[in-house]
Amino acid sequence: MYNDKKVGVIGLGKYLPENRLTNKDLEKIVDTTDEWIRARTGIKERRIAGDGEATSDMAVSAAKKALEDARLKPKDIDLIIVATITPDMFFPSTACVVQNKLGVDHVPALDISVACSGFIYGIAIAEQFIKSGRYKHVLLIAAEKMSSVTDWKDRATCVLMGDGAGAAVLGEVKDGGILSVYLGADGSKGELLKMPAGGSKLPASVSTVEGRLHFLKMQGNELFRHAVKIMAEAALKATEPLGLKGDDISLVIPHQANVRILNAVAKRMGIDPAKKVYLNIDKYGNMSAASSAVALAEAVEEGRVKKGDIILLDAFGAGLTWGAIVIKW
Ligand code: UT7
Repeated sequence: MYNDKKVGVIGLGKYLPENRLTNKDLEKIVDTTDEWIRARTGIKERRIAGDGEATSDMAVSAAKKALEDARLKPKDIDLIIVATITPDMFFPSTACVVQNKLGVDHVPALDISVACSGFIYGIAIAEQFIKSGRYKHVLLIAAEKMSSVTDWKDRATCVLMGDGAGAAVLGEVKDGGILSVYLGADGSKGELLKMPAGGSKLPASVSTVEGRLHFLKMQGNELFRHAVKIMAEAALKATEPLGLKGDDISLVIPHQANVRILNAVAKRMGIDPAKKVYLNIDKYGNMSAASSAVALAEAVEEGRVKKGDIILLDAFGAGLTWGAIVIKW
């Protein structure tokens, strides 16, 4: 069934809500300072979606741009994947909502729940469908309204998150494309980052609302340690089989959780973070799955990725989940 078909990204798009929430704004909401947030995370501001703006709305805006970039129409898409942990609702899936809004009834559509690694897992899934010949074009969208699960009374988490969406169209390419994929997960550490209530284990009730259990809870310190180790390992697992060293990588485009994590990962990989790690966390904070997708779209838009470049996507998040992908542009 498998062949030497090369699969790559043939279109990219992004959408960021207009409303900016700065660190100074947060100083008025919780006991924090601009200085603490910038020094500990690298974040200066983040975008917050409007009250009536759902994850699917942001997803559709990003998707339309990616389709335009790929010079395709919605009808040319064979599969829609939405990576999100903040779906419009439990069901139907956000991918089905997006499918309807794009006006392409009958195109298969599914959500994947992989938290911050969702864009990486999504690329891996899309690649297989295209390689097998099952589908020609896959529309992958990573979209999150993290503000909808943020506890604005918890200074340890509310300063970190932002809303946004990134989209990619994947299809067959003549040269380059995806060179390697490495995915991983460790469910034993799921407690480190979770939203406790609202699911079948702890359905919504007055007490879950009063207990603020519908917001994300994070053990930041412990996660930080795992993030550095796992992202560095994932980078190695994706690059080593190709015989690639730090010097061969043109640009690392990582999930944007914390600038200190990314500097530590770059150091372990022996690469200069100032030159070879793409950063936009200062503008958007941590947008979970959308972070890597928006970062890739912006890196290309800004001319940081050129034809023939070897780029490394590297992500880590709740689950725990992680993944790294090498792409020749
Ligand atoms: O998206 C993928 C998954 N997420 C991650 O990988 C995130 C990983 N973790 C992190 O990025 C960092 O752990 C955080 C940014 C979340 C926290 O930074 P930290 O350097 O690990 O801080 P900490 O949790 O050790 O807290 C240090 C101090 C504490 O005070 P004491 O106990 O030392 O007096 C906190 O209470 O900073 C305090 N603190 C704050 N102070 C001002 C925590 N949040 C804030 C805040 N403003 N917003």
